[in-house]
Amino acid sequence: MSFRISEIVSDSEFHELVEVEFISFEHPRNAFRDLFYPILGTGPDARQQAIKEATSRIIHNHRSNPFSHWVKAIDPHSDRLVGAALWIFFESDPYTGKPLPECTWWPQGEGREFTTRCLMHVSKMRLLCCRGTKAVTDEDQSDLNLCFVHPDFRRQGAGSQLLAWGVSKADEQKMVAYVDASGDGKALYEQFGFVASKQVTVNFTKDNPGELWKRLEKISLPHSFWPMSRPKLAEG
Ligand SMILES: CC(C)(COP(=O)(O)OP(=O)(O)OC[C@H]1O[C@@H](n2cnc3c(N)ncnc32)[C@H](O)[C@@H]1OP(=O)(O)O)[C@@H](O)C(=O)NCCC(=O)NCCS
Repeated sequence: MSFRISEIVSDSEFHELVEVEFISFEHPRNAFRDLFYPILGTGPDARQQAIKEATSRIIHNHRSNPFSHWVKAIDPHSDRLVGAALWIFFESDPYTGKPLPECTWWPQGEGREFTTRCLMHVSKMRLLCCRGTKAVTDEDQSDLNLCFVHPDFRRQGAGSQLLAWGVSKADEQKMVAYVDASGDGKALYEQFGFVASKQVTVNFTKDNPGELWKRLEKISLPHSFWPMSRPKLAEG
């Protein structure tokens, strides 16, 4: 099946996109991603509120990053948005000297502290793994930050089309491409030339954790992923 692929241009396109993102990462549930888009509270209002907060944060991050490109896949029969990917084509080293953002979507306290620690560990492991491949030291590099497809439309080629869009842009610009792969994404990324260095695992704790810390630690750790990189297209 062939989906319509286009780059997102208007803020109004993001609400549907974030709804599909939530459903995609709920099937199967990705507890680690929940830390970055938490549903604070219970019931349908809490989920809608989380989608609203995520939408405005995603729009803000997109608009404040000139290298950010969201691309979506549309089912040509129903016009439904079935999936999307966030590609970032950096024109300068995105890591050196840049502080990690504080996870302010959590209120002050253990939720924020725990998620900030997770982010720190993931970033550190990515750097350690990829120094060897030079992926993080190349000035120009692209990052597949996120890719998802609604469960009703999986294994029909939408993920591949979202990948093809990004890797062709990376090739045009002779950029290394990078992704942190989940178990679900790894096989797809390999088909587009991404290579995993090794599986890495984030796991940590603290002394005298409170109830929230204990709950988050139990549902989201240990967290394993594969830092993957794709070499730039050779000159000539
Ligand atoms: C990963 C994901 C984006 C794949 O999207 P998709 O539209 O189903 O992918 P495609 O149909 O283009 O798959 C192309 C090929 O990739 C491989 N592939 C895709 N999903 C796979 C899976 N879950 N397990 C193993 N191989 C998979 C297969 O070889 C597939 O070809 P086939 O269907 O002919 O066997 C989708 O499963 C998803 O959204 N998962 C939840 C969110 C997530 O984990 N995203 C990745 C974060 S790193």
